[in-house]
Amino acid sequence: MRVLIIGSLSGELGQAGRIAMVRGAKLDQADDAAGALMRLRADARIDLVLCDVLHDVAAVVRAIAAERIAVPVVACGTGDDPDAAVRAIRDGAREFLPLPPDPDLIAAILEAAAGETHALIARDPVMQAAVRRAELIAPSEASVLIGGESGTGKEVLARHIHRRSRRSGGVFVALNCAAIPEALLESELFGHEKGAFSGALARRVGKFEAADGGTLLLDEISEMDVRLQAKLLRAVQEREIDRVGGAGPVRVNVRILATTNRDLLAEVSRGAFREDLYFRLNVVSLRVPPLRERPGDIAALAEHFARRYAEVNGLPYRPVSRAALIRLTAHGWRGNVRELENTIHRAVLLADGAEIGPEAIELAPGAGAPEPPTAGGIAALVGRTMEDVERDLILHTLGHTIGNRTHAATILGISIRALRNKLRDYAAQGALVPPPGQAA
Ligand SMILES: Nc1ncnc2c1ncn2[C@@H]1O[C@H](COP(=O)(O)OP(=O)(O)OP(=O)(O)O)[C@@H](O)[C@H]1O
Ligand SMILES: [Mg+2]
Repeated sequence: MRVLIIGSLSGELGQAGRIAMVRGAKLDQADDAAGALMRLRADARIDLVLCDVLHDVAAVVRAIAAERIAVPVVACGTGDDPDAAVRAIRDGAREFLPLPPDPDLIAAILEAAAGETHALIARDPVMQAAVRRAELIAPSEASVLIGGESGTGKEVLARHIHRRSRRSGGVFVALNCAAIPEALLESELFGHEKGAFSGALARRVGKFEAADGGTLLLDEISEMDVRLQAKLLRAVQEREIDRVGGAGPVRVNVRILATTNRDLLAEVSRGAFREDLYFRLNVVSLRVPPLRERPGDIAALAEHFARRYAEVNGLPYRPVSRAALIRLTAHGWRGNVRELENTIHRAVLLADGAEIGPEAIELAPGAGAPEPPTAGGIAALVGRTMEDVERDLILHTLGHTIGNRTHAATILGISIRALRNKLRDYAAQGALVPPPGQAA
């Protein structure tokens, strides 16, 4: 995880940076927007920008967007100004981080931005079989398509493949095709030359070149539009890419892993995904089973998350009690491992005895056995607009997922992109949108 800080490292922002470093992030610093853009052009692996509100956050966000660089900007400022957060979000920042920095909040922001943790737990024989298959094909150069429901651990498995591959000494670069606006995706993948479009002030290296010698994970590949799929096919087939506005092809040495939570073959038959690309990517296919098909993993995962979130929050480690485990095992886990992770995170914060008891396990309604809607519930909505009710439903769901966008989108049955767009609108209207990974 690489974090670029815009501002001075001597004050509270520097303190935030040091906390991020303790959490394993690599730091980079720029004194102003111009310096930051130079760093971003040079290093496509920067995952997150922390920008002091003393700088013009709106201008930074605009400049980054104009160069089609897809990186979230988190605005940082003193927490005593109640309007600062709203202003920052209006200026296009993804989040507002109040200073002095709260280590938990930084951990949550880093985690949300990176979407990554590395441990792979597999105790259930069903999951162990999936991992064995992944390990068998890991040392080859074959492209791999990883399927599975949202939150099952597709990215975790992709990283595992990279670690077990001959490229493990090289970099692992991930790109979420759903999280990046269509217009930016091509330049994000292949980079661009100076002058390629009106905001392209300098050459920028894309993820393909950044991943040279290593592994490139294309997350949620089904979200890529057909036009770009043609260019991706060429890159996969010829091992050559064209920078946007570039004069000639650039050779790249990259192994491709791709994930999808849709049935890609069905996408092929309805014409939304190129068949030739499908067969190129799907040299080997892996499926991460949903959590309900591997109940034997629940206890081990719960234990793992109990340790991890105790550590992250500076709390004493409490084991998961038997009674709590019984509740966990009976649940439906529509949000899979991610939902279990959020549930345990909450439980770690709520528990206060020697163990995590059943009372600390708050299961997200709607994610297990759905409660039937009551007539009163619907009747109470009469008189309100669809838009209004939709906003409330989205914000409430986000509260239940502790701000986790992917999980909320799954529960709501909409794409992450659609969710993000709506949240941006709500924030612009002045609504309080829970930041990623933070309890509402
Ligand atoms: N086997 C596992 N061991 C430990 N942690 C796991 C495991 N599987 C998933 N996780 C954790 O669960 C969360 C979701 O995993 P991941 O992001 O890999 O899922 P995903 O299938 O890529 O989800 P999405 O479809 O939403 O992108 C992450 O925080 C990850 O660390
Ligand atoms: Mg993923």
